[in-house]
Amino acid sequence: MTRELTQYQILRELEPVAEANLNRHLSMAKEWHPHDYVPWEQGRNFAAMGGEDWDPSQSRLSEVAKIAMVTNLLTEDNLPSYHREIAENFSQDGAWGTWVGRWTAEENRHGIVIRDYLVVTRGVDPVALEQARMIHMTNGVQSPENWGGFLENVAYVTFQELATRVSHRNTGRVCDDPIADRMLQRIAADENLHMIFYRTLCGAGLDLVPDQALEAITKVLTHFVMPGHGMPNFRRNGVIMAKHGIYDLRQHLEDVVAPVLKNWNVFERNDFGPRGERAREELAAYLERLTQDVAKFEEQRDRMLAREAARRELQTV
Ligand SMILES: [Fe+2]
Ligand SMILES: [Fe+2]
Repeated sequence: MTRELTQYQILRELEPVAEANLNRHLSMAKEWHPHDYVPWEQGRNFAAMGGEDWDPSQSRLSEVAKIAMVTNLLTEDNLPSYHREIAENFSQDGAWGTWVGRWTAEENRHGIVIRDYLVVTRGVDPVALEQARMIHMTNGVQSPENWGGFLENVAYVTFQELATRVSHRNTGRVCDDPIADRMLQRIAADENLHMIFYRTLCGAGLDLVPDQALEAITKVLTHFVMPGHGMPNFRRNGVIMAKHGIYDLRQHLEDVVAPVLKNWNVFERNDFGPRGERAREELAAYLERLTQDVAKFEEQRDRMLAREAARRELQTV
């Protein structure tokens, strides 16, 4: 028989693990400063200060790089919403409270440095960026229905931190600018440490209340949406990012979902009761569907890229 614990009991039981991992995080996290990652000598005034306003010809980023940068930045900008979710579902006392504050402060750097880079290098239209930020932050994060509680939140942020790590790293590659690449690698390293904290805490939750935790993990994965869900043009931009390998279904399955489930030994454990076993079956069926969807998506993508290449060839004839 596995135990059923309340949210409060789970947080109290896991507090020593939170404290040990907060200390581990603080010993691993490197201090870094956003201003060290921005090429300030490329900056100049806009029209309101006697200079020139943004024009598309000023950007050295490809369309794909622009879309990926803006998507990643708007995602980081919505930090107040994520903070609210985490602060409401984790305790604000002791090690939990310290973690929530520290994590929020670290995340804030990501939005600061990406915006500084984009404005200084004139990589994207700063007016359109500001308009999109206003819309996205006003809407806030929209959690799926019946979503909530510590276990679902810690499971979600485990996958979300790893997903943003992949997205930042691959965005760095398509920017074709070593400065942007270095900046996004720096951010990706932070996201990895965040993922490790949440993955460890969620793993400790699985050990403590296996059935409850696996139900939460299964619910989160089967309803997973990227944190930027709901921002202007998210669907269209998500398709473009997937098409260009910045964040696609195979990466979601192989680089995000599978390694985390393996780390938790989800399919080798023998501590589940009937509820946990049911969740595990549901999870296995979901992974099967996802594997088929990966193959389908890649076939479509190959066809689309081949059509585009043929069209380009026709145009050059
Ligand atoms: Fe971040
Ligand atoms: Fe993060």
